Amino acid sequence: MPLSIDGRPDEARAVATIHRALDAGVTFIDTADCYCLDDSDFGHNERLIAGALASYEGDASGVLVATKGGLTRPGGAWVPNGTPEHLIAAAEASRDRLEVESIGLYQFHRPDPKVPYTESVGALLHLLEDGVIEMAGISNADPDQIQEANEILGGRLVSVQNRFSPSYRSSLAELRLCADLGIAFLPWSPLGGIGRAADLGGAMGAFQEVADAHDVSPQQVALAWELALAPIVIPIPGASRPESIEDSVRAATLQLTEDEVGRLSAA
Ligand SMILES: NC(=O)c1ccc[n+]([C@@H]2O[C@H](COP(=O)([O-])OP(=O)(O)OC[C@H]3O[C@@H](n4cnc5c(N)ncnc54)[C@H](OP(=O)(O)O)[C@@H]3O)[C@@H](O)[C@H]2O)c1
Repeated sequence: MPLSIDGRPDEARAVATIHRALDAGVTFIDTADCYCLDDSDFGHNERLIAGALASYEGDASGVLVATKGGLTRPGGAWVPNGTPEHLIAAAEASRDRLEVESIGLYQFHRPDPKVPYTESVGALLHLLEDGVIEMAGISNADPDQIQEANEILGGRLVSVQNRFSPSYRSSLAELRLCADLGIAFLPWSPLGGIGRAADLGGAMGAFQEVADAHDVSPQQVALAWELALAPIVIPIPGASRPESIEDSVRAATLQLTEDEVGRLSAA
C-alpha cells in the first residue's frame, strides 16, 4: 500500500522494494485494486506488482499475490461497494491487471453497510466456481461474519485480514477464531501503520527492551510476536524502502522466548 497511495516513492524505488522483498524470500504479496491515489489511477499497485514480478531476474514462480476488491476511490476517498456486480467486475479487472489466468487469493475488502453480507460473500463463491479466483478471503470482519462467510463458501474461507498490531489489538478474538478454524489470519498495519511504525521503539517500551536483548529492530520484534501468537498468523508489513522490508523479513527467523512473548502480550 505505501508504494501506491499519497506519499508514494518513485517507480524505481517501488520496484526495488518489491525486488528486495523477493530476494529476501518473500512468497506472499498483499495488494488491492484501490491502492492508488484516486480513481484516475485505480489499480496502480496491482500494475506495479505485475510489472515488478515480470522484471524480476530470479524465480518468482512460487509467489502468491493476494488482492482485494470492494472499495472504490472517488476523489481519493475510500468508498465501499460490495454489490455482487461490482465485485465480479472488479475481480475480472484485477485478474487482467495482475496478468494471471486466475487470482491466487481474492479478498472482500470491507463489509458494505448498504449490501447484505451474504450477497457480497456470495459473489466470492461465484468467482471461485467460475475459476476467476483460486482462493477466497475476507477483510475487516468480525467473528460472526467470519463464521457466516465460511458457511456461505462451504468451508472454503482461507483467510481473514484484520487490523492488528502491538498498539491495536481489538481483533484478538478474530485471530483466535481463525486459529480454531484453521484459517490464515493476516494482520494489516502490523507495525501500527504508515508513519506510526517508528513509535514501536518509543511508546511501546517492552518491544524496544526485547529488541535490545536480541540486537534487532523493535519492528522485527513486533512481527515475531505476532507470528508467535498462532501458527496461522501471517503479518503483511508495508514498506516503501528496500531496507524496511529486508529488516521485516528477518522476523520470520527471530525466536522469542515464551517469557518474552508473554511480556509483549501483557505490554
Ligand atoms: N485490509 C485493509 O483494510 C488494509 C488496510 C490497511 C493496510 N492493509 C495492508 O496492510 C499492509 C501493511 O499496512 P501499512 O503499510 O498500513 O502499515 P504497517 O505495515 O504497519 O507500516 C508500514 C510502515 O512501516 C515502516 N516499516 C516497515 N518495516 C519496517 C522496519 N522493519 N523497520 C522500520 N520501519 C518499517 C515502513 O516504512 P518505509 O515506508 O520507510 O519503508 C512503512 O511506512 C498494507 O501494505 C496493505 O497491504 C490492509
